[in-house]
Amino acid sequence: MTVLPGARGMDAVAASVAPLPAPPAGGTLPRLLPPAGRAEGLDAHLDRRGPVPYTGAPRVLIGDVRASGLTGRGGGAFPVYRKLEAVAVAGPGRAVVVGNAAEGEPASHKDEMLLALAPHLVLDGLQLAAEAVGAGRAILYVRRDVLRRTRIDTHISERAGTGLDRVAVTLIPAPGRFLAGEESALASLISGGAAVPRFTPPRVFQRGVDGRPTLVQNAETLAHLALIARYGPAWFRGLGTLNEPGTMVCTLRQADGSVTVAEAAIGTPLTALLDLRAASAVLAGGYHGIWIPAGTAARLTLSNSALRPLGGFTGAGVLAALPAGRCGLAETARIARYLARESAGQCGPCRSGLPSIAAAAGELAGPRPDPRVLADLSRWAGQVEGRGACHHPDGTVRFLRSALHVFAGEIAEHERGRCTGPGAPGFLPVPAGPSADEDWS
Ligand SMILES: Cc1cc2nc3c(=O)[nH]c(=O)nc-3n(C[C@H](O)[C@H](O)[C@H](O)COP(=O)(O)O)c2cc1C
Ligand code: SF4
Repeated sequence: MTVLPGARGMDAVAASVAPLPAPPAGGTLPRLLPPAGRAEGLDAHLDRRGPVPYTGAPRVLIGDVRASGLTGRGGGAFPVYRKLEAVAVAGPGRAVVVGNAAEGEPASHKDEMLLALAPHLVLDGLQLAAEAVGAGRAILYVRRDVLRRTRIDTHISERAGTGLDRVAVTLIPAPGRFLAGEESALASLISGGAAVPRFTPPRVFQRGVDGRPTLVQNAETLAHLALIARYGPAWFRGLGTLNEPGTMVCTLRQADGSVTVAEAAIGTPLTALLDLRAASAVLAGGYHGIWIPAGTAARLTLSNSALRPLGGFTGAGVLAALPAGRCGLAETARIARYLARESAGQCGPCRSGLPSIAAAAGELAGPRPDPRVLADLSRWAGQVEGRGACHHPDGTVRFLRSALHVFAGEIAEHERGRCTGPGAPGFLPVPAGPSADEDWS
């Protein structure tokens, strides 16, 4: 694991990356983030990584991506080569490639960190993905406030002046909304509409931006792609597990409230990432993820194979340790309210189901909840699942169900009129609400 400066309570591993032409050792961390956590400008990037390793033709890179086992780091862990193949079918010049740095999940900061520290790796990946599918258009979709903070526009302009990029890159600001990074919402916004998801099919790889086949890859996925193109699939497999190779950039929130972004090999024990001694539970996978009792989390690794049996997944690499003195029900209710507010409000399950679910979660978090609330919650959860245009209701229900299970003891306490953390301020970040300029457009 590699920890950026500012990490507390964890063993920071000194990182070293060999200069070109030799590739860095496959087992060395960090891979994506620059050593010592200093932002890498274009000259330093080219010195250390060399030029963009274009292959000269569409599809050539896809075999290496397949052999590497790279999966998407935006949440879904879908095999990248399959999307590349599906979009490459469009033929030269037709497809659009989008780098997704919307990072709508409030607890995640890894895409922002990548754009701040290793912008050229992401931009190399965007070019290589464009070449692999023969795309005629490349777009970087970045959350509006992150765009302002990272000044990614200056990096794009600098590259344009050097002739490094073969496809011009357009920067599109993403609204700071939870759903803005969902790929059909993203395609709608870039095509001139609102950033709301649409029913599928067609999927965006078939009809996306302006009706064209569109490859959407998370910013981190593109950065991995840029390294696979340079160093090859065997190098990529030098870290991670057989079935889930490589590293992930994770956002780690410790029980003491400190937040770090760290790159870790898939398969790393969660105890190497989170100090669980003062924690009662872990939230894995973000606000569509699951709660796990701290004792259980201490036996797990950072991998989908470890989390799936519990109904969870690594998602975009969010891991948060809930301090022992906090009420998990109160945290859950705050997040459920946020998720209900963040629905696009265009499908029945979200319009009527999520507000009722969030209100019930709020009642459970209060003193002496009506015992019927639990049954109501379970019934409503069943009614919204699988019925939306996107996975927002499903993710919300998954999160809620895990809370009912993990915080069953806390529910019993509330029924007796007691609470573990009465009146404590919220622990996990929840935006206050969309401001006027953070709407759906
Ligand atoms: C509700 C919702 C929100 C999402 N938000 C993001 C996001 O902020 N960033 C992102 O990269 N992917 C997000 N995704 C996943 C995208 O739809 C898409 O699958 C992903 O960008 C593909 O990239 P990847 O295969 O490299 O992970 C979201 C999905 C859902 C269902
Ligand atoms: S399911 Fe909910 S969040 Fe998804 S598109 Fe429909 S209303 Fe919007």
